[in-house]
Amino acid sequence: MSEPTLAYVIGTRPNFVKMAPLIAAMRARFPALRHSLIHTGQHYDELMSGIFLDELGVPPPDHMLGVGSGSHGAQCAAVIRAIDPILAAEQPRLIFVPGDVNSTLAAALAARQRGVAIVHIESGLRSFDRSMPEEINRIVVDRLSEVLVVHSDEAIDNLRAEGVAEGRILFAGNTMIDTLRALEQRFRSRRTHASLGLDAGRYLLVTLHRPALVDGPLLAAAVEALASVAERIPVLFPAHPRTRKAIESLGGAGRLRLTEPVGYLDFLSLQSDAAAVLTDSGGIQEESSCLGVPCFTLRDNTERPVTVRLGSNTLLGLDPRRIEQIPQLIETTPRRAAEIPGWDGRAAPRIVEAIAARCGL
Ligand code: UD1
Ligand code: UDP
Repeated sequence: MSEPTLAYVIGTRPNFVKMAPLIAAMRARFPALRHSLIHTGQHYDELMSGIFLDELGVPPPDHMLGVGSGSHGAQCAAVIRAIDPILAAEQPRLIFVPGDVNSTLAAALAARQRGVAIVHIESGLRSFDRSMPEEINRIVVDRLSEVLVVHSDEAIDNLRAEGVAEGRILFAGNTMIDTLRALEQRFRSRRTHASLGLDAGRYLLVTLHRPALVDGPLLAAAVEALASVAERIPVLFPAHPRTRKAIESLGGAGRLRLTEPVGYLDFLSLQSDAAAVLTDSGGIQEESSCLGVPCFTLRDNTERPVTVRLGSNTLLGLDPRRIEQIPQLIETTPRRAAEIPGWDGRAAPRIVEAIAARCGL
C-alpha cells in the first residue's frame, strides 16, 4: 500500500498567508507521506497569488484548478467540478481548508461527499451577519469538518453555543501570525514607505474590498472622505482589483495614492510603519493588533472581536463619514502591540502535533 496523502487547499490571498507555515510544518514532520497542494485559482493575478507563493516559500501547487472569477454559485460549482476527480484519484486521508472564502466552502463540500476528513483552519469565527458570503461559508465548513482549529476564546464560545462537541475543537493559535513572525526581519528592514516617498508614522494605509462597501453607493462617499483626509495626512490605498475597478468607474480617486495591490513583504512593511490602517479586511485586523498599529475597521461588526478586546482594532461602523475623524483618532489611540494567547508564531507546529496524535499519523 502506498503512503497516505494529505491535501491542502489554497485559493485566495489570505489563504496563502494562513496555510504557508502549516504546509511547511506538515511536510517537515511527515516527509514520507504524500502532500498534495491544490490551488483553486480563485485569485490569479500575479499580485494576488504568484507573489505570495514566492515570498512565503509555498511549493509549486500539484494542482492548479484555474477557476477564476464569477458569482458565488459559478465559482463554487467550478471548484467542486475540478477538485472532485482529484479527491477521487488521491483519496486523501485528511484535507486542510482555511478561512471562509468560496474555495474553502466548495472544497469542503466536495471532500465531505468523498468521505475525506476535513481540518478547518480558522474555525469558529462568527460576525453574526448572514448578509456576508463569508459567514455562510464559515458556518457550513464548520458543520462539515472533523477537526475545528480555532485561534481565539470567542471562536470556542461560538462553536460551543452551536453544540459542537469539545473533542472536535482544537485551540492552536493563529497561523497568519506565524507567517508574520517568520518574515518579520525581512519586512522590518524593507522600508517600503521610503521608496514611495512617505515618512514613517506619517501616512494612513487603506484597504477596502468587502461587497457591502465596494459594490454599493457607500464607496463614492468613502473615496470622498478619504480625499479630505488626504489633505491632512498622505493616504496610500493599495486597492484590491475589485475595488480598483469600482473606483475607476467612479471617475478616479483625487488626492489618494491609489496603487496596485502589493506583495506580502511590502504590505507588512507599509503596515508596520503606518500611522494607522483603515480596512475592512479580516487578516489586517489581526496583523495590525500584533504590530501595535492602530486599526480602524469600516464595518458594523467583526468576526474577530479579540482584536477589539485585546488588540488595536476600533470598529468605526459601516459609515464613510467616520473616515474624516481618523486624523484625530490617530492622536488619541495608543500604539501598543497586543499579546493574544496563541498568536505567538508557533501555531503551525502545535497543529501538526495535535493532528498527528488525533488522527494517528
Ligand atoms: C474573496 C473572498 C473574501 C476575501 C477576499 C480576499 C469570497 C466570497 N470572498 O473576495 O472573503 O476577503 O477574497 O482578498 O470568497 N479579481 C481580479 N484578479 C484576481 C482576483 C479577483 O481581478 O486575481 C477581481 C475580479 O473582478 C473578481 C473580483 O475581483 O470578480 C472579486 O474576486 P472574488 O474572488 O470573487 O472575491 P474577492 O472580493 O476577492
Ligand atoms: N495583503 C497584502 N497586500 C495587499 C493587501 C493585503 O499582502 O495589498 C495581505 C495582508 O497583509 C494579509 C492578507 O493580505 O496578510 C489579507 O488579505 P485580504 O485583506 O485580501 O483578505 P481577508 O483577510 O479580508 O480575508
